[in-house]
Amino acid sequence: MTRHLLDITDLERDELELVLDLARRPVEALNQPLAASGVALLFEKPSNRTRHSMEMAVVQLGGHPVYTRGEEVGIDSREPAEDVMRIMEGYHAMVAARVFSHSVVVRMAAVASVPVVNMLSDRSHPLQALADLLTMTREFGSMHERVVTWVGDYNNVARSLGEACALLGSELRFACPDGYGPDPAEVERLTALGAARVLSERDPTAMVRGAHAVHTDTWVSMGQESDSEKRRRVFADYTVDASLMGVGAADAIFMHCLPAYRGYEVTAEVIDGPRSRVIAQGHDRMHAARGLLAFLAGVR
Ligand code: CP
Ligand code: NVA
Repeated sequence: MTRHLLDITDLERDELELVLDLARRPVEALNQPLAASGVALLFEKPSNRTRHSMEMAVVQLGGHPVYTRGEEVGIDSREPAEDVMRIMEGYHAMVAARVFSHSVVVRMAAVASVPVVNMLSDRSHPLQALADLLTMTREFGSMHERVVTWVGDYNNVARSLGEACALLGSELRFACPDGYGPDPAEVERLTALGAARVLSERDPTAMVRGAHAVHTDTWVSMGQESDSEKRRRVFADYTVDASLMGVGAADAIFMHCLPAYRGYEVTAEVIDGPRSRVIAQGHDRMHAARGLLAFLAGVR
């Protein structure tokens, strides 16, 4: 069966551990499983980290990345996603896509005979969650019963992070305004995945108290720009600042997938301060991508 990574839950817990293990191995130990192969990288949205980390991961595995912007391929405008996929699998060992609608990567995977990788959709951002685990496990060792707090919008990045940390047995806490957090069914789903505990409340101080890692993201994700004024009002009390970090564990770290908007979801003092791990986290994107692609290429 062809394996895909559309969501973190496409991996079993032991497979997630294996991907992280592959990501930590030296490049040379992976033996270039993509030698003489192409990997298509399709982007319907802008990117810095995802494009560069995926291109370099493909190169480190011996393959050749082919980057294309969405408007050039025209998924569902120039031709249906299924036709795009059926053609690309004739050229490439894997196809990765950053899309507006998650249903597009689902439809591509449904007809694909090569792995499809979700490089961010409106639903999830699994490559980011893999990198986040690399950064946090370097810091904490095991994720088991570590307290991971998400402040702000329960968005694509939050959902994938929640799934990843749940699979590894962390305690998850979400501090989100009404209507922007995980609903009870989602809390139950994350609990069933293996989280030590899942809490969701409006109050950021209550959710950050004692936390080991505090994560946030932009209040306005790509595709939500027309809503930005309203969102800035809704999230106004959800800025991660020094006083909020101060109620976390004594050695609590701050994380953000980037790009960040200083003065909105996080203050400059926090993101540019000693607790911030955002640059290491960004660099971990390449190692995570390499581990995932090696896994999909069959390296064990
Ligand atoms: N974190 C992340 O996905 O960054 P880019 O949008 O720059 O790829
Ligand atoms: N939630 C953000 C993440 C950017 C990497 C977005 O979807 O725009």
